Amino acid sequence: KIMSQDELKKLVGEEAATWVNDGMTVGLGTGSTVKFMVDALARRVQEEQLNITGVVTSTVTAKQASALNIPLKSVDEVDNIDLTIDGADEISADFQGIKGGGAALLFEKIVAVNSRRNLWIVDQSKLSDKLGSFPLPVEVIPYGSKKLFSIFSKRGYAPTFRLDNNGQLKHTDSGNLIIDLHLKMIEHPHDLAAELSAQVGVVEHGLFLDLVNTVIVGYPDGPKILEA
Ligand code: A5P
Repeated sequence: KIMSQDELKKLVGEEAATWVNDGMTVGLGTGSTVKFMVDALARRVQEEQLNITGVVTSTVTAKQASALNIPLKSVDEVDNIDLTIDGADEISADFQGIKGGGAALLFEKIVAVNSRRNLWIVDQSKLSDKLGSFPLPVEVIPYGSKKLFSIFSKRGYAPTFRLDNNGQLKHTDSGNLIIDLHLKMIEHPHDLAAELSAQVGVVEHGLFLDLVNTVIVGYPDGPKILEA
């Protein structure tokens, strides 16, 4: 059977929604795959009278989840997040990830590091041997961002400023900008993460290292569960 990428996203989104149990505090990621999960989770909340609390990672997910009557709290209002379900842009064979294609990486990382377990849901196209084919998003403070851009340029990182649908500079939920690094192949993700974090003006980068516990991958013959 041939399934579109959207059908694969729906498949893993609906599977992930079954991983939520009554009483849980659940981190709700961002993106088109998570959107299917939030829809399915909201149906469960209603049909099974689940008592859950959601912690969102973006204004987009907040809007969807609150419209579907999922009770929400901020990360600072909860003691623990039991499970966070999020998408990813690329996952390597050793379970490192690139996120931020939807510009929500900062809140996604804050929620992820405060979660007991992280579950990522992706269609099969997101898996690769080594990271780097997906451009690495770096969230930066607007002030001085052109200076950072030229530093990245000189290092050969082929930076581009993220634009919105109107061709204007994309502003994140926190009012920052995104510089995407077109690296093609990231040989040493931990070294690069440390280098980027040490750069003044960088708020956060899209390398999500040693964070994920479980990945659900959508294949045409069903979801496959990978434990990191
Ligand atoms: C948002 O900033 C990203 O990290 C998303 O989680 C990622 O882009 C996955 O999005 P899709 O599910 O739409 O591919």
